[in-house]
Amino acid sequence: MTISLTIVGLGYVGLPLAQEACRSGLAVTGLDTDSSVVAGLMSSVSHIDDIDSTGVAEMLAAGFNATTDSACISDSDVIIICVPTPLDDDGTPDLSAVKAATRTVSEHLQPGSLVVLESTTYPGTTEDTVRPLLESGSGLTAGVDFNLAYSPERIDPGNPEWGLRNTPKIVGGLTPACTERAVQFYEKIVDTVVPTVGLREAEFAKLLENTYRHINIALINEMAVFCHELGIDLWASIDAAETKPFGFQAFRPGPGIGGHCIPIDPNYLSWVAKRVGYRLRFVELAQEVSERMPAYVARRTQDALNRLKKPLNGSHIVLAGVTYKANVSDQRETPAKPLVVHLRRMGADVSFIDSHVDNFVVAGSEVPRILDIGEAARSADVVVLLQAHDEFLESTELGGADCILDTSGKFTGDHVDRL
Ligand SMILES: NC(=O)c1ccc[n+]([C@@H]2O[C@H](COP(=O)([O-])OP(=O)(O)OC[C@H]3O[C@@H](n4cnc5c(N)ncnc54)[C@H](O)[C@@H]3O)[C@@H](O)[C@H]2O)c1
Repeated sequence: MTISLTIVGLGYVGLPLAQEACRSGLAVTGLDTDSSVVAGLMSSVSHIDDIDSTGVAEMLAAGFNATTDSACISDSDVIIICVPTPLDDDGTPDLSAVKAATRTVSEHLQPGSLVVLESTTYPGTTEDTVRPLLESGSGLTAGVDFNLAYSPERIDPGNPEWGLRNTPKIVGGLTPACTERAVQFYEKIVDTVVPTVGLREAEFAKLLENTYRHINIALINEMAVFCHELGIDLWASIDAAETKPFGFQAFRPGPGIGGHCIPIDPNYLSWVAKRVGYRLRFVELAQEVSERMPAYVARRTQDALNRLKKPLNGSHIVLAGVTYKANVSDQRETPAKPLVVHLRRMGADVSFIDSHVDNFVVAGSEVPRILDIGEAARSADVVVLLQAHDEFLESTELGGADCILDTSGKFTGDHVDRL
């Protein structure tokens, strides 16, 4: 019997999941509140990096249907919730999309279904927030009438090696039977499923992974500042340290953290820790160090100009790659934005070049875009390479700039300053 699956939220997480489920022969419906996303997908237009229009067309040919009509839930064996979990202005977790999506699911939930939350969140959300909403809206009991599980998404946008299918999938259920049902389901889509002893362990595993990454990025960024003062080539030291076959994982410096995960998820952990009277000082420190990086890059831009006997005030600075990581178009939380604020405040004339980004608006004002790499290199007093998109690494022209501040450690030469 073909399993029918509804995925609630068709973004960076939900759409690749829908694609993999289609490839596995499931009957997949995507439910999203954004009618433009739904209309786009139904016309084979993708809005995320890792899936192109051909990919969406293949999904549609395999029977995929995108809709804003939640009635599809009542025909579903499995419902997976992949909606955003941002922060409020004051840094507290904003579960409004999770709650709204859960209420929608509860209104149509049928006995025998499996409901899985994939959105990143703090431990306890599935049991304490999702479960009661599902039960009160449906009149059904979790673990008895329907199965409930949590499975964190580990997607790494733009990663050509590790995708949804070959990255092990963690699954934790409300009861052992819920875990078993969720494991059996995910085994149809991914190569390896890793069950946890419960919901909270699965929820915490995701925060642990991202907090580990957050802290190590901050550590290496702090080392970058310190090594520059001492005249040590940190990039060479990392390459050397990386030869140790055990006990060291290489992280490399950058202009600051971005995206929907690393800058946000550790706050979910801090918030839940504060509720039980505990301060996660490592997390707070990592936050502080990372937030300083854009200002530090602005200062290093000024230093680079100083060596050329030029002031930053009035100089033309071209930012190469303004997304939060290389080879993606996602601008969420990109460190390029605070960098622009710092550079403008210091009087610089800032432009950007990035084939992944058409419009780059900072503090309500558009940053002028340069389309041609040669023109960017020729017109800039300093090119600040923020994200080493393939287009920059493959270009023979970018290296021709008078001065490059390279935050990615990819360029060398007398005219290159590396972070
Ligand atoms: N982007 C990543 O790389 C990544 C990786 C791992 C985990 N996550 C986590 O996955 C979750 C989703 O992130 P994302 O990047 O896919 O978000 P996204 O913003 O790309 O997509 C979310 C989609 O959900 C839709 N949506 C919002 N509220 C809805 C509702 N009530 N009903 C139906 N649809 C609704 C939005 O319209 C949007 O299309 C978050 O918790 C995030 O932390 C993201």
